[in-house]
Amino acid sequence: MELYGSSRVVEGGELSIGECAASSLIQQFGSPLYVYDESFIREQMRKYRRPFDERRIPYQIAYACKALCTIGMCQIAAEEGLYLDVVSAGELHTALASGMDPQHIYMHGNNKTQAELELAVTCGIGMIVVDNFYEIELLREILETTGRTIDVMLRVAPGVDAHTHDFIATGRQDSKFGFDLASGQVENAVRQISTCPQMIFVGLHAHIGSQIFDVEGFRLAAERLATICVSLGHQFGVTISRLNLGGGLGIRYTSDDTPTPIETLVNSLIDTVQDAFAKQKLALPQLMLEPGRSIVAQAGTTLYRIGSRKEIPGVRTYVAVDGGMTDNPRLALYGAKYEAALANRMNDPVEELVSIAGKCCESGDMLVWDVQLPRANPGDILAITCTGAYNYSMASNYNRIPRLAAVLVHEGKARLLVRRETLDDLIRLDVPLTVS
Ligand code: LLP
Repeated sequence: MELYGSSRVVEGGELSIGECAASSLIQQFGSPLYVYDESFIREQMRKYRRPFDERRIPYQIAYACKALCTIGMCQIAAEEGLYLDVVSAGELHTALASGMDPQHIYMHGNNKTQAELELAVTCGIGMIVVDNFYEIELLREILETTGRTIDVMLRVAPGVDAHTHDFIATGRQDSKFGFDLASGQVENAVRQISTCPQMIFVGLHAHIGSQIFDVEGFRLAAERLATICVSLGHQFGVTISRLNLGGGLGIRYTSDDTPTPIETLVNSLIDTVQDAFAKQKLALPQLMLEPGRSIVAQAGTTLYRIGSRKEIPGVRTYVAVDGGMTDNPRLALYGAKYEAALANRMNDPVEELVSIAGKCCESGDMLVWDVQLPRANPGDILAITCTGAYNYSMASNYNRIPRLAAVLVHEGKARLLVRRETLDDLIRLDVPLTVS
């Protein structure tokens, strides 16, 4: 199992993260447990900013908090000079509760509700990424009623099919997101926006997918956006002052994955956008990126206790842990692959090939198929790496299993990010029927 950030094997063959031993973390906070390596998260954020700072190129990096949205994470993003991309009232509420400057927040979504748009406008967020014609009208009414003004970008579906898992490809033409480029919807949207003086059109946005390993798809998207900028300039006299290329940089989950390092990708993106805009004789807009996964995925490790096992001679050995698809639905949803190890016996020799099952009542509740481990016994601690993105944020209470606690570790200290759900938390919204 590859170790990332501050993860190490320490004396006694135990896994330590942020100088906290896996067994002590579980003892203190219970099992299963999400553990986040704070310095690793901060370093990933800095990797996005550094190339821009070094080259003195105007930019804005927003953390796409859908990857891991908690108050503490929003605080870290703010401390590191990042903006926040939110996609719902819930994410916006979290961001506001963290003390994030509303001007540093912007909102996405293909079906923002009236209530969400009202909240966004009245709390004074920096920008709205408008996705469709219905939203333009909703927003127009809200701005007229409240007398507010807001910067808007248009989300464009650039027709780029980034190489990624089908379910997470969001930028190709056949997509529920954004204005279709090929059929002139972008021009129509700009026309409609130009009739509302309270909407300030600032630029275009495209997000071409997620878990992308190279710059090629971004290059295509940037070229298409530059072309449309020329046409918008001719037709409406508008200048695009910001260009947002979304998120999507992939990470290494297993040895099958070979992503471009963040700084290399960011430098290529800058070159690409500079080229595309120079070719069209356009001034370079402020470049915006909104990474999620590549900020937090590798900084997260989930620790579980091993419980039961089932050996089917000649077929497979299932080793079950005290969590499962409720804390990590990504194998069930996307066939995602992870690496795993026994965190309390990292140096023990491999003895068996097993598959890691969860505890939910569903056969698809698997965490890892086929992993080589030392003989896994009840009570051993299993670590699964790269669980920092889209695990807590996609967790569920299926089977009424409480959501895990999440801790942030750094230099031997562990701080709670999210406390563990209790059994009472699980029933707090239930309304018992009363006999009338
Ligand atoms: N911006 C937009 C508009 C997005 O839709 C997304 C992700 C991001 C930024 C951040 O992308 P990232 O840098 O994290 O790739 N649940 C799936 C991932 C869904 C991604 C949705 N959009 C998973 O677990 O793999």
